[in-house]
Amino acid sequence: MNTVQTLAQLRSCVAQARSAGKRIAFVPTMGNLHAGHIALITQAVARADFVIASIFVNPLQFGPNEDLDSYPRTLAADQSKLEAAGCNLLFTPSAQDIYPNGMAQQTIVSVPGVSSGLCGGSRPGHFDGVSTVVCKLFNMVQPDLALFGEKDYQQLAVIRKMVADLNMPIEICGVAIVRDSDGLALSSRNGYLNAQQRADAPALQQCMQSVKTHIKNGNRDYAALFAQFNSDLQAAGFRLDYVELRDALSLEPADTDSRNMVLLAAAYLGTTRLIDNLIIDL
Ligand code: PAF
Repeated sequence: MNTVQTLAQLRSCVAQARSAGKRIAFVPTMGNLHAGHIALITQAVARADFVIASIFVNPLQFGPNEDLDSYPRTLAADQSKLEAAGCNLLFTPSAQDIYPNGMAQQTIVSVPGVSSGLCGGSRPGHFDGVSTVVCKLFNMVQPDLALFGEKDYQQLAVIRKMVADLNMPIEICGVAIVRDSDGLALSSRNGYLNAQQRADAPALQQCMQSVKTHIKNGNRDYAALFAQFNSDLQAAGFRLDYVELRDALSLEPADTDSRNMVLLAAAYLGTTRLIDNLIIDL
């Protein structure tokens, strides 16, 4: 696997792959790779002839009090994992490569509707940062398809809408959440948890499963279910950010007639913010 840092090097590798008639898959990441990312690479290898990953910790998607500076940078380990998974090319641009005129001068891609509320409500500007950098990376790589984890459910919806609204000829593939054996969704941020918090963390998924079971059993009193969810989470040491039930496709708020839904939640363990989601198909 080759690693390139500049846009010129990237474009030359992409041109070679294109002239050899290869179908190109792209997996954008912020590094600190875990089995969830590797599942994206494995899917990409199965669906394309040439797989490109990127590692770029995108400052534009972090709020002023978020973890941009402490976000783990683990390039050497990431390279080994990508190579072992069959990735062909790694792009590791610098902030200067991505934002040569600075972030304040950057044209922003803002996806209306699906960027609002949920994580977009708790992290103002976050999804503008995501859609802007993904749009730029798409224009740099020009892939046939791109793969994203379903753990960031709202992010996937934002990217799907951006691609549709801007007529980008890129197929977007969502890949199922990868979980530890105790049910905790894999996330680079799990590394921030101390031993006690790590032991408490699966409660998020367990409390969500309990809401799902109640809904499957016909309970549609969402307000009461969420109140119980909140008190169960608090008992497990969490502080709730949000819990919501949305339509799984449109991300519009679900009502008592909705059948294909997604339960989305974010909660803090200490200063670490964890997110998770669960499809509820009736
Ligand atoms: O999901 C992520 O790791 C990031 O939001 C992404 C899509 C790589 C954009 O920076």
